[in-house]
Amino acid sequence: MVQVTRAAAIATAAAAGTLAVALIVGGAASEEVIPGLADAGEFTRWGLPAARVVMDLTAALTVGALLAATLLLPLDVTGGKGRLSGDATAYLRASSWLAAGWAAAAAATLVFTVSDVLGEPVDLILTGDRLSGYVGDLPQGTALLLVILMAVVVALLARTTATPGGALALLALAGIALLPPPLTGHAASAANHSVAVTGLALHVAAVAPWVGGLAMLGRHALTGGGRLEVMADRYSRMALWCYVAVGVSGIANVVSRLPDPADLVTSDYGRLALGKIVLFGVLGWFGWWHRRRTLPALADRRPHAFARLASVEVAVMAAVMGLAVALARTAPPAPALEEDAVQVLLGYPMPPQITLGNVVTLWKLDFFFALLVVVLGGLYLAGLARLRSRGDRWPIGRTVAWFIGLLTIVLVTQSGLSRYAPVLFSMHMVQHMTLGMLTPIFLVLGAPVTLALRALRPARIRGDRGPREWITILLHSRYVSVLTHPVVAAAIFVVSMFALYFTPLFQNAMRNHLGHIAMEVHFLAAGTLFFWVLIGVDPAPRRLPHVAKLVVLFATMPFHAFFGIALMNLGEPIADGWYRAVHPQWATSVLTDQHTGGAIAWGFGEIPTIIVLVALVGQWFLDDERTARRKDRQADRAAARHENDELAEYNARLAALARHDEQTEAERAAAKKTAGKKTAAKKAGSGKPGTAGTAEKTGTAEKSDAQKSGAAEKAGSAGAADEAEGAEPVGEDAT
Ligand code: HEM
Repeated sequence: MVQVTRAAAIATAAAAGTLAVALIVGGAASEEVIPGLADAGEFTRWGLPAARVVMDLTAALTVGALLAATLLLPLDVTGGKGRLSGDATAYLRASSWLAAGWAAAAAATLVFTVSDVLGEPVDLILTGDRLSGYVGDLPQGTALLLVILMAVVVALLARTTATPGGALALLALAGIALLPPPLTGHAASAANHSVAVTGLALHVAAVAPWVGGLAMLGRHALTGGGRLEVMADRYSRMALWCYVAVGVSGIANVVSRLPDPADLVTSDYGRLALGKIVLFGVLGWFGWWHRRRTLPALADRRPHAFARLASVEVAVMAAVMGLAVALARTAPPAPALEEDAVQVLLGYPMPPQITLGNVVTLWKLDFFFALLVVVLGGLYLAGLARLRSRGDRWPIGRTVAWFIGLLTIVLVTQSGLSRYAPVLFSMHMVQHMTLGMLTPIFLVLGAPVTLALRALRPARIRGDRGPREWITILLHSRYVSVLTHPVVAAAIFVVSMFALYFTPLFQNAMRNHLGHIAMEVHFLAAGTLFFWVLIGVDPAPRRLPHVAKLVVLFATMPFHAFFGIALMNLGEPIADGWYRAVHPQWATSVLTDQHTGGAIAWGFGEIPTIIVLVALVGQWFLDDERTARRKDRQADRAAARHENDELAEYNARLAALARHDEQTEAERAAAKKTAGKKTAAKKAGSGKPGTAGTAEKTGTAEKSDAQKSGAAEKAGSAGAADEAEGAEPVGEDAT
């Protein structure tokens, strides 16, 4: 434990030392951090970055402890049922304290931020009503408040949670809590904010598990914790991906702020960034050395070299975190050309008159969707490669569908269309309709979950949970069951459309880059859920009959048409403030363009309906064929074993019913013949009308009984015939 405390103290000192040096060298420690703003005093100038470093470090440690509890340490499988091991529970409880520290550091950062923005000392902020007034108005204030709330929830629940699923949910919550501050810092107002915002979010999301995970692994090694080799192996596989993500996003961050590479050496911001790049290289060397030397030693149960190197590595990481905060406090060089108001809002200059040529040629990188496509495409290819290496086959149609889906995302988010979508409602609608109604159809036909389940290996330790087991658990969970209920999926698909466009939500989403990404991801996710229920080929909690799928499709699509018609008939522009602010001179009026958008929404609904119908009919046909082939195989197998199979028994039952029908018919005919003879004899013998009447009555009674039983039998046969009809292909094929 002494070693852990010493390592923690060294890391803290490294973070504090680098922060101080970088603040002085970069100029952020001097007065007037941002020219033109009042200075809040020395305490705030040093207190804000210090609180921020503590916040970043405790956030990373919370994520690391939750990661250790859920994904790095294997479950305890004694007694058959996988549960959190003693060590994992200890990490979970530790995450509670760390999250409490995170919340406290975020609260301190909030106070210092308000003090910094208003240029007033902290004591004034704490005593007056400035804090409560500015928290809601200031995006950074709201972001930090969200962090405090989420961290407090993690701190409270981590004390009582006992299940692996609950711990994983806390890890997800902690992951979400990392994002609000970087997304509302100066990245949100950077010149190319599409790259800056996504880049910083990815950067921070990759740094936390990388740094926090290593800190926990180092602690585990220093304290002689159990299953260290398993933990190290899992961490090292994850760390490689985090390293790549941190590097790529870090470079994207720098490029978005320093368009001129010369700024890397001529500006304070550039020099600090260069320092980070050098330290990043040093961290790469640590990783390489671990793989070469210390991990093999650890596998041989000699953990000391690993523990020592990991402690030094964590100290370097903490130093980079200090440098990162100083970098975030340093103003990047001002852009060479003054930006106009539209460019500030859009993050790029107003595009020229819209023409097909411009839409096709004026491509623009949307970092978020580019990354999404690369990750989804890469994972799919990796899955295919795994199947191929095992000699397994995968239908080519699914692969084609998946990549067509990804291509549609590229076309609407990276081509010239993405330049016009924020300024023309009609082009936004093309983007929305494609992402919400066309892309999902192809993606669900790609069967990604089936591919993942086939490609991923089961957990190495029996009863433990790896990615494959987590996917299976998620698929069987009640949340997925509720979400994939056709009524719920259809309601999300339809209601969210009306809720977005006919409330102020749309305007807010257009104004904020993060909101814009969230809106587009929502279209994609809601569409994917809806079409997964309808035509998805992946395993799902419930399988709807084909007829029910058609009913859901035809019950939902009219709402979509109403939506388009409602837009076409609106007399007032929606998101008026936004569209007027970015209205191009060459365009028609905002309202006319909105009506065009409504017509596009209305007309577009037909395309997915036709594709889904074709897919449904195809699946129906293939299902029938598959069932027939299965029954054939069963029959063949049964015949080979000289056993009765289900189909043979069914056919025998039908044959027995037919024999029974014939027999009854013959008996009825015989009874009729006998009755006719008797009547004739009676008529010939007595000739009394009364007797004849009685005899007729008896005959009628007999006949009606016969009719009744005949009808009953017929009903029976009809039922059987119906069944036989239903099973027609099977019966026909079998004979
Ligand atoms: C190729 C290497 C790297 C580059 C180019 C890079 C660059 C950047 C840039 C430009 C920012 C944005 C600063 C701002 O808001 O103006 C940033 C933020 C950040 N970086 Fe890095 N970085 C790199 C590696 C790392 C590493 C290795 C770590 C941690 C171990 C790290 C941790 C962070 C953190 C925590 C932030 C957010 C700071 C805050 O806003 O509180 N970075 N980085």
